[in-house]
Amino acid sequence: MSSARVTHSALALALTLTVVITGCSSAPLADVEAAPTDPATQSTEPRISSVESEPWEANLGLARTVNLGATFEVGRGEDWGIQIELSDIDAIAEAGFSAIRIPAKWSDWAAADAPYAIDDEFFAMTDAVIDRALANNLFVLLDVHHYVELDADPEGHGERLLAIWHQIAEHHVDRPAQVIFEILNEPNGELSGEVWNDLLARALDTIRQSNPGRTVMVGPGGWYSNLELENLVLPDDDNLIATFHFYEPFRFTHQGASWVQGADEWLGTRWGSDEERALITTEFDAAQAWASQRDVPMFLGEFGVLAAADSDDRVQWMTFVRAAAQERGFSWGYWDWGSGGFGLYDEPAEQWRVDLLDALMG
Ligand code: BGC
Repeated sequence: MSSARVTHSALALALTLTVVITGCSSAPLADVEAAPTDPATQSTEPRISSVESEPWEANLGLARTVNLGATFEVGRGEDWGIQIELSDIDAIAEAGFSAIRIPAKWSDWAAADAPYAIDDEFFAMTDAVIDRALANNLFVLLDVHHYVELDADPEGHGERLLAIWHQIAEHHVDRPAQVIFEILNEPNGELSGEVWNDLLARALDTIRQSNPGRTVMVGPGGWYSNLELENLVLPDDDNLIATFHFYEPFRFTHQGASWVQGADEWLGTRWGSDEERALITTEFDAAQAWASQRDVPMFLGEFGVLAAADSDDRVQWMTFVRAAAQERGFSWGYWDWGSGGFGLYDEPAEQWRVDLLDALMG
């Protein structure tokens, strides 16, 4: 991703380019600059959002979401080779999506020590994308992604997550209801069961101090597995959306994944038997029952298949999973927009992979 591009490098360049960004559809994100902070206009008063959103309506806004993977999830200083530009957000809207999910690695951009200040550069970069999405009438789901230190050490990093949310929530206090917060992507490791339920409730309290009426999303421990929904305790709050991620069978969707040990041995795994389809039906039925018992809207926040899979199987799986979500009233978010492995968009060639897009748009 534009890690080089979206993240740091050219930020020093450009007061003047900020104007270019808002006026020109092909401006690179890296040219966005952090707005200078004027101490004279800083207030110590807590800021409170007047937004009053309704979770079922917000979930309709997320009906057809695409994840901006391999962009803001990239670690600070890393380069995953994908470049996103603001004109790509326009193209996402034109392709028929209703929303973008922005997986963002805030933990790389927040100070190590209290009060864990988030770097203005990262706010500026994410703000440029959010502004452009809203200008295109897209909903925006903003998450905290890849906070791996927190998964390993919830006690050592829990307060830092709360401080990160305190800042993100205050920063976006004036945003419309189309901006939705997602507390933490795929908690796993030590962050499970009661520990996760407790931390997510505290993070929600933190968000509610400045954003009492904004829709917030939460998912279960165990990497957001649907099988973990039973262990998720929803806080007493009437403005939540629940979420899970689905990549089953993992050996099929992640065949050849460079970041999964042994995944090369899965190359050639096919998908599509009646039994395999029935399994997905059963699991999605269970997720729907869980949500309806709690009267909470559901978002299938990630699903996708790597390009190494058989291309027909891949389209079949995407079509089946997407339809299974829609039939149950779940909104969905495909993983992802432009990464080399999953991407709907061939970023180097600057064109959509039409077979994949069709599988989603029906
Ligand atoms: C991770 C990505 C990964 C994807 C599929 C996401 O939650 O952030 O890096 O490619 O899951 O495994």
